Amino acid sequence: MRKLLPCLYQAHVAGLLHPAGRILGVSRSELDTAGFLEKVDSDSKIHIKQNFSEEAWASFIKRIHYLTVDVTRPEDFKALAEAVKARRETDNVVIYLSTAPKFFAPACAELANVGLNGSNVRIVLEKPLGTDLKSSQEINTDVARYFQEEQVYRIDHYLGKEALQNLLALRFANLVFEPLWNNKYVKSVQLTIAEQLGVEERGEFYDITGALRDMVQNHLMQMLCMTAMEAPKSLDADDVRDEKLKVIKSLKPLTYADVDTDVVRAQYTESKGMNGYLQERNVPAGSRTETYVAIKAEINNERWAGVPFYLRTGKRLTGKVAEIVLNFRDLPRHIFENSQAAPNRLVIELQPAESVRLYTQVKTPGAGNKVELTALSVDMGKEIQGRRAEAYERLLLDVINGKLALFNRRDELEAAWEWVMPIMENWENSSTPPHGYPADSWGPEAARNLLARNGDKWHEEQ
Ligand code: BG6
Repeated sequence: MRKLLPCLYQAHVAGLLHPAGRILGVSRSELDTAGFLEKVDSDSKIHIKQNFSEEAWASFIKRIHYLTVDVTRPEDFKALAEAVKARRETDNVVIYLSTAPKFFAPACAELANVGLNGSNVRIVLEKPLGTDLKSSQEINTDVARYFQEEQVYRIDHYLGKEALQNLLALRFANLVFEPLWNNKYVKSVQLTIAEQLGVEERGEFYDITGALRDMVQNHLMQMLCMTAMEAPKSLDADDVRDEKLKVIKSLKPLTYADVDTDVVRAQYTESKGMNGYLQERNVPAGSRTETYVAIKAEINNERWAGVPFYLRTGKRLTGKVAEIVLNFRDLPRHIFENSQAAPNRLVIELQPAESVRLYTQVKTPGAGNKVELTALSVDMGKEIQGRRAEAYERLLLDVINGKLALFNRRDELEAAWEWVMPIMENWENSSTPPHGYPADSWGPEAARNLLARNGDKWHEEQ
C-alpha cells in the first residue's frame, strides 16, 4: 500500500507499464476486487506524492484485481493459476512474495504445483530472507527446487536508489576518481545509514530482527560492495554481481575477539520526551536487541588492505542521512599555514539529498597564506534533469523487463550472512549488554572510541 502500488502508479503515469499489464493483489484477507480497491483507495492513494490526477488514478486501478490466497490452502493456488490462465502462455508473470521467511518454501511449492514456475515466471523475494546463514541457505535451496536462479529476484531496495547507482557512474565513467580510489590515497571510509525514526509500530518484528539483520547484512553491505568493488567487465548482471561477491569474500573474517573490539551494539534510551527502545510498544522487558551498530571492517585485497571501512546504522539518531565518506590521506608536506588541519574528503550523499561533494582546499582571501575547505558539489536533484523514480519503481520495472543486475544473487547473499554470523554468535553468548545512547543523539560513546583508536572521527564531528 505504501511503496509498491504508488510506485506502480508512477510507472503507469510515465507510460512504462504495458497497456495490457495487470496487477493481482493476493493475501489471506477475505476480500473481493471491489473490497480490495476500497482499501487501495484509502491506504495507498495517500502515499502518492507527485503526478496525482483522478483521471490517471481511475485508469490505473482498472489494472488491479484481487484474489484471496492462503499459503496453507492448495485450492487457493489452483484459483490463482486459473486467474492468470488466459495470459500466462503469452506473457511474463511476476510473483512478488512479501511474507515471513517461513512461507517462502511452501508458497514456491504450491506455485510449482499449479505450474506457475515456467520460464516466463519471475519470482521476487522481499527481505528478510532468513534470520541467519543456515535459514537463508535453506530458503534458497527450497526456492531453487522450483525456480532457476535467473528467475529469482532477491530485492534490496537500496540497490534501486539512484544515488547508489550513480556511484558506479562516478567511479567508472570518470577518469579522475579511480586513480585515487585505493589504500595509497584513502585513509578511511565511512558508510552511514542514520534514521531519526524509532521502531514505531514495528516493535514485534524489530525485536526479533535488530539493526544487524535489518540494515547491515543487506543495505550497508551493498553500499560497501558498490564503494569497494573493482570495475566490472560490463554492467551485465553477473559481471556486476561477480565483483560485488569478491568484495564480500575479501572482507577479513571477524573472530569473536574482533567482535569485542571492532563492533559496537547499542540501544536508544529515553531522552527529550522520546521513548527509549525498551519503552516502545511490543518490546519485551530487558530486550537486548540492538537499534544501533557500528563496525570497523577491513578488506583484505590489493586495493584496500589497511584502510578501515566504518559501517554504522541506527534508529533515533539526530539526523536522517545515508552517505558514503572517503577520507583522503594527509599531504606528504604542507606549504600553506594551516592546510594540515583538514585533508580532502569525498561525500556521496544518497539521501535525503542526492549529492556528491568533494571537499577541497582553497585560499582564504586576503593577506597571509591560509587555506580553507570548501565543497565542489553536484546536487543531482537540482542540476540533473529527468524524473527520479523511487527505488521500488526502478526495481519493479527491472523485474518486469528481466534485468537482474540490481538484485542479489544467492552466493552474494549467503556470503554476507556468513560474514555477519560471528557478530550474531558473539552477542548471543555475551554477558555484556548493549551500550545505551540517548534518543536524538549520534550514538554511543563507544562508537566514537572505535574511530578514535585510529585517529578518526565520524563525519558529523569532522
Ligand atoms: C528497511 C528496514 O529495509 O529499510 C527499515 O526494514 C528501515 O527498518 C528502512 O527504516 C530504511 O529505508 P530508507 O529507504 O528509508 O532508508
